[in-house]
Amino acid sequence: MKISVVGTGYVGLVSGTCFSETGNTVTCVDIDPKKVESLKKGKLTIYEPGLEVLFERNTKAGRLNFTTSLEEGIEGAQVIFLALPTPPGEDGSADLKYILGVADDLGKILKDYAVIVDKSTVPVGTAEKVTAAIAKNAKVDFDVVSNPEFLREGVAVDDFMKPDRVVVGTQSQRAMKIMEKLYAPLVRQGNPVIFMDERSAEMTKYAANSFLAMKITFMNEIANLCERAGADVDNVRRGIGTDSRIGKRFLFPGIGYGGSCFPKDVQALGKTASEFDYDFKILKSVMKVNDKQKTKMMPQIKEYFGGDLKGKTIALWGLAFKPHTDDIREAPALYNIKSLRRAGAKVVVFDPEAMDNVKGVVGRKVKYAKSMYEALEGADALMIMTEWPAFRTPDFDKIKSSLKNNVIFDGRNLYALDEMEEKGFTYYSIGRKAIKA
Ligand code: UDX
Repeated sequence: MKISVVGTGYVGLVSGTCFSETGNTVTCVDIDPKKVESLKKGKLTIYEPGLEVLFERNTKAGRLNFTTSLEEGIEGAQVIFLALPTPPGEDGSADLKYILGVADDLGKILKDYAVIVDKSTVPVGTAEKVTAAIAKNAKVDFDVVSNPEFLREGVAVDDFMKPDRVVVGTQSQRAMKIMEKLYAPLVRQGNPVIFMDERSAEMTKYAANSFLAMKITFMNEIANLCERAGADVDNVRRGIGTDSRIGKRFLFPGIGYGGSCFPKDVQALGKTASEFDYDFKILKSVMKVNDKQKTKMMPQIKEYFGGDLKGKTIALWGLAFKPHTDDIREAPALYNIKSLRRAGAKVVVFDPEAMDNVKGVVGRKVKYAKSMYEALEGADALMIMTEWPAFRTPDFDKIKSSLKNNVIFDGRNLYALDEMEEKGFTYYSIGRKAIKA
């Protein structure tokens, strides 16, 4: 099939590349000439494990192409994906200006029937708005379909190629058949393509992300309670996760969820609720609890140093909002850097992938170490913000000899308590008893 993907951000590039891998001819369109130039030269603009191999193979085979021209990009395309940004506006609702702008242009240039697919996360009712924007000028038939993505950064290629499910919102039989054909190679294992109406598909995306954010937040609250009640959240997690109604995944407590999706989508669903005059109480609590959770170790670190961090240097491992990405959007590390500096501490940071992005935002307010161990040299304490694999099995003797105090504040529960005790560390983690050396 010939398809077009408008917007070569994270979702667009992964979707376009993966669709070319299943044999379609894909043209990706972006208004940013620098991005398009780079992609045309064979240089990926994002870091995503596994993407490069597919990108190289399919660009070489001529199945994956790039252009800045919408008209050229959609030429002959049966399906046109809109993978455009929907940044939160000032009131928290998703801003549709990019999507509706392209919809407007599409109406003017469509020459044949095409399925226009909303791939971006968009509020309930957007498919209708996109339809109206295209219909204003369209001279041919078209259908607008809502097909939300459920890609996790770091494993997006796998999520795309082997989805748990594909959600397609449309009431057009013609569009349904085309979408079914397009996704057939990805659901051979038997996972479903679930068809529904457009509004339900749009709601499904927000419900999924908000539910997961709630699941994590619930565990974070259980963890906080465990600390007070003398229980161990790791045991509780195992104890409840084996109940298949609850499930093992997304039960890991920590210093809060971050990233480009959960915070934005929870907020946007809250906004949708208030637009429909519904008081979505759980969502409000999720946002409040998560905000507090991000800096939940600050009081502990202050207390350890006698209430004052002036003159102290804190080494911070992990800046990305989660491992295997360089993305620092809404990363708990950034909030902790701010709080530590506000409390008078100096901060030295290390992350395997996200250093450049943090330099762009934080600049020279912190020091950048070349390795995880260099960050520790002469520091008073270590804080862990992201569970990168390299941090899981460190050389504890090296940590001890580099830090001024044998103390670790671990926001991701990387180490076993008995090991920390045995090695003589003071160790604070989430939802487990504090080990005092
Ligand atoms: C998420 C959704 O998973 C994906 O389906 C959606 O399309 C986009 O948003 P992503 O933002 O890439 O994907 O990250 P994810 O792996 O879901 O993690 C989100 C946040 O939750 C991270 O900050 C992570 O550290 C945190 N998290 C996750 C926990 O704190 N505990 C957990 O058990 C799981």
